[in-house]
Amino acid sequence: MKNKKISPSLLSADFSNIDKEIKTLEKGGADLLHIDVMDGHFVPNITFGPFIVNAINRVSKIPLDVHLMIENPGNYVDRFIDAGADYLTIHVESTPHVHRVIQKIKSRGIKAGISLNPHTPINTIENILADIDLILIMSVNPGFGGQSFIPNTLNKLKKLNSFLKKHDAENIEIEVDGGVKLDNIKTISDAGCDIFVSGSGIFNAQNPMEMIKKMKNIII
Ligand code: DX5
Ligand code: ZN
Repeated sequence: MKNKKISPSLLSADFSNIDKEIKTLEKGGADLLHIDVMDGHFVPNITFGPFIVNAINRVSKIPLDVHLMIENPGNYVDRFIDAGADYLTIHVESTPHVHRVIQKIKSRGIKAGISLNPHTPINTIENILADIDLILIMSVNPGFGGQSFIPNTLNKLKKLNSFLKKHDAENIEIEVDGGVKLDNIKTISDAGCDIFVSGSGIFNAQNPMEMIKKMKNIII
């Protein structure tokens, strides 16, 4: 049985107060910090690069879960690992050389993740199952926080769980990203999810620290 984890997405945090925001998340029991890197090409939004990831790393006591939504990820993975990424996830749609980039991440001794957009079939990752530690299922179209959870994600999660079982790869962690809230986290957990990313669901709550605790109580 894998440990279930909450990974708050800093995309919805107040960056003018990031030190305080991170301390609040840690006090609430956040297991990871989810960091969304966007380049304005792979997705229609721009966020931040290795410099900011490194600043977050200097403040954070918990591992960094870095989600790359960028083209040519192979050109940048070393810099994000140097900046302090503990999990580094690339999109299967972002490069024709997924296997090569995953090998590069693994050679640096951190966890390698692969992410699938909502339309991307599960069998696209069949040939790299032996090489990855994490599968990130997008439950919204990547680019922005605050979107609604796409209901078909639940079917995809169930299929993914049987797929991993069939391929004897149940050690791979399954992460869901987008529209995860207190009111749907139980259903998502039951469909087979290990790591729950939540941005607006946590930061828009009156008390983000309590919200993490509530979410953790539901998934455990
Ligand atoms: C979307 C990002 C998500 C986003 C989730 O492209 O990958 O991590 O921050 O935000 P919420 O939880 O608000 O949907
Ligand atoms: Zn993300």
